[in-house]
Amino acid sequence: MTDASHTPLPALLDLATERLLAAGQADRDADLLRLRLERYGPELLAGLAPLYGPTAGGRPWLGRLIDLLVARHAERPEALRLLDARRALQPDWLLSPRQLGYVCYVDRYAGTLGALTERLDHLEELGVTYLHLMPLLAPRPGDSDGGYAVADYRAVDPALGTAEELEALAGALRERGISLCIDLVLNHVAREHAWAAAARAGDPRYQGYFWLFEDREQPDRYEQTLPEVFPAFAPGNFTLDETLGRWVWTTFNTFQWDLNWSNPEVFLEFADLILYWANRGVEVLRLDAIAFTIKRLGTDCQNQPEVHALVQALRAMARIAAPALAFKAEAIVGPQQLIHYLGSGEHHGRVSDLAYHNSLMVQTWSALAARRADLMTHALAAFPDKPRSCAWATYVRCHDDIGWAVTDEDAAALGLDGPAHRRFLADYYAGAFPGSHARGDLFQDNPLTGDRRSCGTTASLAGLELGLRRGDEKLISLSIERVLLAHAIALSFGGVPLLYMGDEIGLLNDHGYRDDPERRGDNRWMHRPTMDWEAVARREVPGTPQARIYDGLRRLIQARKRTPQLHAAEPARIVDLRQPRVFCFVRPHPEGDLLALFNVTEQAQTAQLPELGQQVDRISGRVVQPHDGSLLTLAPYERLWLVTVGAGAQRAWRHV
Ligand code: GLC
Repeated sequence: MTDASHTPLPALLDLATERLLAAGQADRDADLLRLRLERYGPELLAGLAPLYGPTAGGRPWLGRLIDLLVARHAERPEALRLLDARRALQPDWLLSPRQLGYVCYVDRYAGTLGALTERLDHLEELGVTYLHLMPLLAPRPGDSDGGYAVADYRAVDPALGTAEELEALAGALRERGISLCIDLVLNHVAREHAWAAAARAGDPRYQGYFWLFEDREQPDRYEQTLPEVFPAFAPGNFTLDETLGRWVWTTFNTFQWDLNWSNPEVFLEFADLILYWANRGVEVLRLDAIAFTIKRLGTDCQNQPEVHALVQALRAMARIAAPALAFKAEAIVGPQQLIHYLGSGEHHGRVSDLAYHNSLMVQTWSALAARRADLMTHALAAFPDKPRSCAWATYVRCHDDIGWAVTDEDAAALGLDGPAHRRFLADYYAGAFPGSHARGDLFQDNPLTGDRRSCGTTASLAGLELGLRRGDEKLISLSIERVLLAHAIALSFGGVPLLYMGDEIGLLNDHGYRDDPERRGDNRWMHRPTMDWEAVARREVPGTPQARIYDGLRRLIQARKRTPQLHAAEPARIVDLRQPRVFCFVRPHPEGDLLALFNVTEQAQTAQLPELGQQVDRISGRVVQPHDGSLLTLAPYERLWLVTVGAGAQRAWRHV
């Protein structure tokens, strides 16, 4: 890392003292701010240096940053200062097994923010402690990539409500023990955003916020190594803006303008926005598409080392003025890159508090399709350990497609051909592979690269749609077991499990988007169905698929909450049972380890375990006794969270 000693901490503290005095702040809160600056200032400077040079943006710029921290800290409401204190007492709050996340669209769940406030009982009944509301800031008109093209970061989409209503909702959620998470889209803004509008009107200050090129020379050079995110509906990474007569960097859609993070003004703008929402009660920010923020010629412009310096600087900044705020990295990247988003090397424990475990999600679906867990075992065993202070966001499905991120190397280690296995998965989940029970669809089929991704709700991918259509009871039952198995993995692997709206009642694909001209082109909308409250009511009708899924999930959630082994500090240790159909890991714990076992097939499977003794399954409460001392038979799709009866830790497991 570049030496940041040109701007030593004492200079930063002097600046802060000067500014605090100028602002007339000389009380305990001012002392607190200075203490936090002492604690996080070095991390802030070390993060800024690789981005903006050894003087970290220069003294006048740092002065403006300090002014901002002082002002926003002074504005922080009392209730949130209390939250800051609470989080300082429990820095591992996100790692607790009590955490349960839920992800929904405001309009699809309830209509508006006001109406959502009336629908919180459902979340509380499930045990939700963390609510991610999908993009809700004012989007551009028309197609907005599901709200990921933001036109105004300080306003809520008027169709959903107001910033004041969001603040009130955050307060209501906090009273129920639920933390609010929203998206912070920081790779790009909508072409209609005021910064882009000013740039288009010729303002050089705002032109410096973007990547603009006079001709195709530079874009063509970048394109040589850039992949395409949406090759089918937004090919290429640059768009000619007719008004400017220049090429604009647009990684995603043509209307999403990439920001130039090498400009320190962009950092100041976002520092302000982050604190604006933190002070309105947002507790977690999802850093959307964070991997793309730093560009470098000759690379794929993802996962550049400065991305991690940037997150470190943003987090340190937030820890100083609004310390309760946490960050969740959305980096859907390869296994080798992912760990850095939780912090490795000099950034260990200093970047995001959470990061999506895309590989766990992909490997779960791969195991269910192939009826083999050995690839999953192999791939996940090779994952480097995460820092103890942060955790994964685990999930079965989300609003995006599933990209089949199985590496050629991992596939080859199991005798599989990487491209063929990925093709198989895409075909399987599109229902195109012989015998497939899944009813999904292909996403961004790219004949040039062979890349094909998948869409579909959890239940439809697991076979419930086909089962119901055929009236096939066996298939319905198996699909429900698959849904529960996948969730049992996400709920016990370690981290905050994120339930996707409607999965708790097995919502099927929704093809309504095809009638909507703004959504027609993007089939990710098929797995973003509207909440069906009548189906929610059927969770109380025994025997319905809704009741079976809901009850099964609730049992898992409640078991999770009372199982201390599922605290996320200590990572899951993958165990290779040499039984390719059973996925297994240990959650080491001083009170006795937990052994998690998952049969990923519809046949019973027997696994040979070292001497085990009597076990209790935390999910069912059942006592489990291996036969012949070491053989355990798992029913089709059975999942077990085993702990030893009585005292005594299963330390032997750690060395299997
Ligand atoms: C993230 C979002 C995705 C969106 C993209 C561009 O990956 O999850 O839905 O299309 O960012 O903002």
